[in-house]
Amino acid sequence: MWSILAIAILTGASPGSRADAARPGGASRAAVAHKGAVASAYPLASQAGQEILSQGGNAFDAAVAVAAALAVVEPTSSGLGGGGFFLLHRQTDGFETMIDAREKAPGAASRDMYLDKAGNEIPNASTNGPLSAAIPGEPAAFEYLARKYGKLPLKQSLQPAIRLAREGFPLYARLQFGIKAKRDILVRSLDAAKVFLTADGNVPEIGTVIKQPELANTLDAIANQGAKGFYEGPVAANLVAGVRAGGGIWTLEDLKNYRVVERKPLVGEYHGARIVTAPPPSSGGIALLDSLNILAGFDFHDVDSATRKHFIIEAMRRAYRDRAIFLGDPDFIKMPLQQLMSVDYAAGQRSSIRADKAMPSELLPGIESEPKGMNTTHFSVLDAAGNRAAVTITVNLFFGNGYMPAGTGVLLNNEMDDFSTKPGRPNVFGLIGNTANSIAPNKRSLSSMSPTFVETPKGMMVIGSPGGSTIISQVLLGTLNYVDGMNAADIVKYPHYHHQYLPDDVTYEPGALTDSEIAELTAMGHKLRLSNRQWGNMQVITWDFATGKVEAASDPRGEGEGLVY
Ligand code: DON
Repeated sequence: MWSILAIAILTGASPGSRADAARPGGASRAAVAHKGAVASAYPLASQAGQEILSQGGNAFDAAVAVAAALAVVEPTSSGLGGGGFFLLHRQTDGFETMIDAREKAPGAASRDMYLDKAGNEIPNASTNGPLSAAIPGEPAAFEYLARKYGKLPLKQSLQPAIRLAREGFPLYARLQFGIKAKRDILVRSLDAAKVFLTADGNVPEIGTVIKQPELANTLDAIANQGAKGFYEGPVAANLVAGVRAGGGIWTLEDLKNYRVVERKPLVGEYHGARIVTAPPPSSGGIALLDSLNILAGFDFHDVDSATRKHFIIEAMRRAYRDRAIFLGDPDFIKMPLQQLMSVDYAAGQRSSIRADKAMPSELLPGIESEPKGMNTTHFSVLDAAGNRAAVTITVNLFFGNGYMPAGTGVLLNNEMDDFSTKPGRPNVFGLIGNTANSIAPNKRSLSSMSPTFVETPKGMMVIGSPGGSTIISQVLLGTLNYVDGMNAADIVKYPHYHHQYLPDDVTYEPGALTDSEIAELTAMGHKLRLSNRQWGNMQVITWDFATGKVEAASDPRGEGEGLVY
């Protein structure tokens, strides 16, 4: 099932890029990417991006096209009923921004809404059914991106998705796997069952054409009226009626008031590489920069591979701890971001790391977890002018909460579970949080999604991945590997290991640790746990400024495709 490594490589020197490469910092500013590239989790979505680039769209138009196409062909992972982060780089002036389209808690949400009178958690309330859904952000991001940063009309960028929804596409293995996993939930929602199950409620066969006429109509409404086509009028009325009929608390006002927020990306430095990454309400950027700052003080050249991995694991442990304690929605809480990103703070953290011994997490103050798979999606885009988009979007779990309000074609997210629904309660990814991430009306839940750009004097990389709590450690490993000179194809297939502070163990994929590393790390006191499955679905684009070579690589764990043209 985990078959295709799609990588396309095109080489050719781009005029001026050598001189640009010599310029320190912002090396690529004046350079022109030789070719455009798209890497996403499914070929039809990569092709949608390519189609829009070839019609004269820029990377931001293509981002709309890919995200919308993924909403149709990869509904397990993201969609109009979800949200995410769009990290953008404009090449002409080096301007960088992040469109925060994270879902917001409904206005009637309250801190203890998933607890019973005795203060106990109500099973599955924050994951199944409309009560678990936050107000979606993705449709608002489409209009915003197209209007403010795109070159083409929104209507044009949405066309490939509308076509895919109306004409259908053949069911593929991973989507079928998602349907099987969520069948018992999907069957409870008439509209969802109509799209994803057979007439008698079973899982359709591979190759069955999945058509989504109602989703096509909703996309059409957005194409014709912009965000209003979703957040107001008949679609909004159907969404609210459906949510409330299923026990949810959305109102028309909640939808009408939803706005994306533009946030300044976090910028850090690691061994001469400039790292541009997602600010809160993502926890990813802070944890990534914190880890890199800790690691920058170790000399990896003089240590063996087990010690190197030990240092990386210890950095993960400390960064994930800070995530649990300090982070949440910046519009609601104050966070010591400058401190967490500072090299002095990292030096303090580094000083507590011994070269020969794991530090038990209980000596730091924690969490319990099982890394999850691929129910979020990331894609990377680079256009021929050098503009970039790193986009991670989600509905949280497979098919979100599995509920589709009648007449909308829209599957709802269950992003409310990313809040700390009860102090100390681990969410589905085992992540705990404290009051910084407690539920409040209109608040955004803390995310791990970490769309990131890495730029060195030699080249740049656009990177990101799904995988719940493991997103951050994947992007960390990818960044370290890129700075070490690894190519895109090797970065996406690199075997993962992961530590998230609590539970205090290192989960690793088959092949991530050699026998001797396992022996050495165990002797240092690490608790190692071989995962019975892989995680992540990384999509990477790299561009070498000197040669002009552009590579787009899609994780072989998935079925995606990287296209360069
Ligand atoms: O925003 C977050 O961190 C989560 N909702 C992401 C969920 C995810 O990656 C699921 N995939 N495996």
